[in-house]
Amino acid sequence: MKGIVLAGGLGSRLAPLTEITNKHLLPVYNKPMVYYPIETLVRSGVRDIMIVTGGDSAGHFLKLLGNGSMFGLKDLYYTYQRGEGGIAEALALTEHFADGESVMVVLGDNIIQDNMTAFAQKFKQQKKGARIFLKEVKDPERFGVPCFKSGRIVKIEEKPKKPKSHFAVTGVYMYDAHVFDIIKTLKPSRRGELEISDVNNRYIQEGSLEYDTLSGYWTDAGTFESLYHASTLVKRLKK
Ligand code: DAU
Repeated sequence: MKGIVLAGGLGSRLAPLTEITNKHLLPVYNKPMVYYPIETLVRSGVRDIMIVTGGDSAGHFLKLLGNGSMFGLKDLYYTYQRGEGGIAEALALTEHFADGESVMVVLGDNIIQDNMTAFAQKFKQQKKGARIFLKEVKDPERFGVPCFKSGRIVKIEEKPKKPKSHFAVTGVYMYDAHVFDIIKTLKPSRRGELEISDVNNRYIQEGSLEYDTLSGYWTDAGTFESLYHASTLVKRLKK
């Protein structure tokens, strides 16, 4: 399975911090944000990793991460997303890198404690489709939210005003290579983005989306509140 870190977008919710640097290079306690999703992949045994970056300071990723040797990697692969066309648009840029294999995708602003190795194993046994990971949260309206019927996810609503469950769809996704066909058929949402929730909803319609619930801590770090929260969480765990 190939690994993808999505670190494109403009990080406008963190302005002015993101005026002169990329959101994923900002610190989360003692490390740049982008270290965490890379470590999540490496901990899960993924060795071939592509980083999708964007914005004005993309060159800084190369300077910071080089060939990935600090993570025990032989090499790191990079690509560049122009503008902010959405998470699914960023993922589409990695089709040639995936080269027909399945992918484990981690959003560049997600901090995940769980070791995903066992989940990756379950995904392998699943043979096709997608696997997503849920976490119970107090503010589901900020995320993709699953709607359940008899224990199955029947729909995912992106940032619903009235969430139908207390779960967030976290920013770790496992997809078979069919994901790239799905993305080609998507239309931009009202906010002008190709939405990852639309990808997941397509897998639901095809009857091939499975899920697990994370037991460790999980947070995003894309707003001032969550960035601060992420730093305190990591610090507390270090102690
Ligand atoms: O954190 C989990 C949530 O992430 C999910 O629950 C939502 O379903 C999903 O849409 C996403 O929501 P956000 O609104 O938090 O996504 P955001 O626009 O902040 O993007 C998250 C990361 O995805 C960002 O750090 C980099 C990457 N990204 C995003 C966009 C819009 C890209 O690589 N390119 C993009 O164009």
